[in-house]
Amino acid sequence: MQKFKNLIWEYYREHKRALPWRRTKDPYKILVSEVMLQQTQVSRVLIKYEKFIKNFPSFKILSRASNRDVLSAWQGLGYNRRALNLSKTAQIVVENYNGRLPNNPKILETFPGVGKATANAVCAFAFNQPTIFIETNIRRVFIHHFFKDKDKVSDRKILPYVSQSVDHNNPREWYFALMDFGTMLGRLKGNANRKSMHYAKQSPFEGSNRRLRGIILRELLAKPQLQRKEVYDKIGYDKKRVKEIFSSLVSDGFLQEKSGWYSIK
Ligand code: ADE
Repeated sequence: MQKFKNLIWEYYREHKRALPWRRTKDPYKILVSEVMLQQTQVSRVLIKYEKFIKNFPSFKILSRASNRDVLSAWQGLGYNRRALNLSKTAQIVVENYNGRLPNNPKILETFPGVGKATANAVCAFAFNQPTIFIETNIRRVFIHHFFKDKDKVSDRKILPYVSQSVDHNNPREWYFALMDFGTMLGRLKGNANRKSMHYAKQSPFEGSNRRLRGIILRELLAKPQLQRKEVYDKIGYDKKRVKEIFSSLVSDGFLQEKSGWYSIK
């Protein structure tokens, strides 16, 4: 374990990434970055993060923003549900916690769009707590190092190693170091996470519902309202499928419908 820790710190000393969300300890900014990074690569998040923070610099301001404005700033990151969840979380923080993010991962986990990993990561990065968590890069590091010839490694098996490794003096930077090492491994050796029990590839984007949802949302950010017909005329998906996707966008809280016209809710 000591050898492992030395290796990670040594790599970090030489190769640490200067990422904008690592310069801050503002819990709001760190939460925004972690939610963006959940399913989106660092290079894409870099393009969007600072503008988003500029537009919505605090929980209070985000909590009052329209979905149209928030979704518009989220364009390009994908998985747009995260933007609505972030807004809802901001509303909860403003209404129930006086605009200050609680420093308890168990509470954070109850907020929309905040899972275990995000809750614990935010507490490590914003409050320097020695939380124990696994996300994709961290998983890769431990599998690579401690489960070399193993298959179907579960997170339950990995967690004790994470726990033993955590630097209690500087958990914040320890996790930066793990993530940097994990990113490097990903680039170097393909995806060691295929050996994880929890490995799930992102589903293909072309022709997917996710893509169609993205197209509809983009159209609606460019104009106030539209009808379903415009969408199937334009992109040639079948009527039934377009109808189902509009319905799901309504029930997920993105859109509202009135006499056949849809608009952002
Ligand atoms: N730095 C802080 N959080 C990060 C994350 N989730 N991925 C990569 N780098 C980070």
